[in-house]
Amino acid sequence: MNELDAIVASAKLAFSQATTPPELENAKARFLGKTGSITELMKGMAALSVEEKKSRGAAINLAKQAIEAELNASRQALADAELQKQLHAEALDVTLPGRERGLGGLHPVSLTMERIEAIFGSMGFEVAQGPEIEADWYNFTALNTPEDHPARSMHDTFYVEGGSEKVPNLLRTHTSPVQVRHALQHVKLHQAAMDAGQPMPEIRVIAPGRTYRVDSDATHSPMFHQCEGLWLGENVSFKDLKYLFTEFCRTFFESDDLVLRFRPSFFPFTEPSAEIDIQFQQGPLAGRWLEVAGSGQVHPNVVRHMGLDPEKHIGFAFGMGLDRFTMLRYGVNDLRLFFDGDLRFLSQFR
Ligand code: PHE
Repeated sequence: MNELDAIVASAKLAFSQATTPPELENAKARFLGKTGSITELMKGMAALSVEEKKSRGAAINLAKQAIEAELNASRQALADAELQKQLHAEALDVTLPGRERGLGGLHPVSLTMERIEAIFGSMGFEVAQGPEIEADWYNFTALNTPEDHPARSMHDTFYVEGGSEKVPNLLRTHTSPVQVRHALQHVKLHQAAMDAGQPMPEIRVIAPGRTYRVDSDATHSPMFHQCEGLWLGENVSFKDLKYLFTEFCRTFFESDDLVLRFRPSFFPFTEPSAEIDIQFQQGPLAGRWLEVAGSGQVHPNVVRHMGLDPEKHIGFAFGMGLDRFTMLRYGVNDLRLFFDGDLRFLSQFR
């Protein structure tokens, strides 16, 4: 092997051993740089004759071209390897199943609320709302529970500072204050017509929402949900309540043979009062009486607070626990699951 071939061969070897572009460029300098072996050979030609320069120059040039070709091939190889590495690192397998967008859904208690609104809506009930921070007067006094009434202690709640009788000062303990708020509005709306001797259009309303009490265990949460109902007019009686609530429960639970029981009870704002129990005839809860609501004929004092005459206007009210209805519908046995925010539980209702 002559000298030039040896230089080309060692350049080829050096280039092939370079694993990064800077290494390759360093190797290049050893052959083609200012003091590189090819450059040195060129410098050495100065002493040669014209004839010799021609043939020697041509030979050196060939070697230089061969080295440059090797260099370019190595540059390309390194660039290709880099690209391959990158492609591999960023590999995207389009045959994999897509990632879910994490679709949300309604909370089970919200599903119950919607369902109850739809059922009562189909029976001519509108939906009303009231404030969760309520005034003493609406939460208690208007509902025939004056200050110092022992029934207030059954509704232990959270008070906020400030406030007064009619200025919000407590977290409402039930949705019943919405009865009074709604009735007062209703009366105001129809007062002129009533003064002119027309009968008051019946009040038919439900009021779902959050309620609060100092209470916490597997079946009680300090924040819970109720739905109030009020049907008031000149010709409404307890039998309408029984019919309405039976229809409602059978529709809600999709169970035609569901049985209801009205058990005498006490609420300051109704007289007579009754707890409503239901009994499934089928399924895991069959045969057991389950308490689901309080109810009764609106007390004359409450009717008066609504701005109406209890001799003329009569009606009934009921209040049910939405969380309880949700637990019964889906077979959930611990109320706290609703408020833990665990997606493994909640996503089952999506
Ligand atoms: N407000 C009562 C409670 O929370 C329920 C109820 C409402 C009872 C309406 C009778 C009439 O316990």
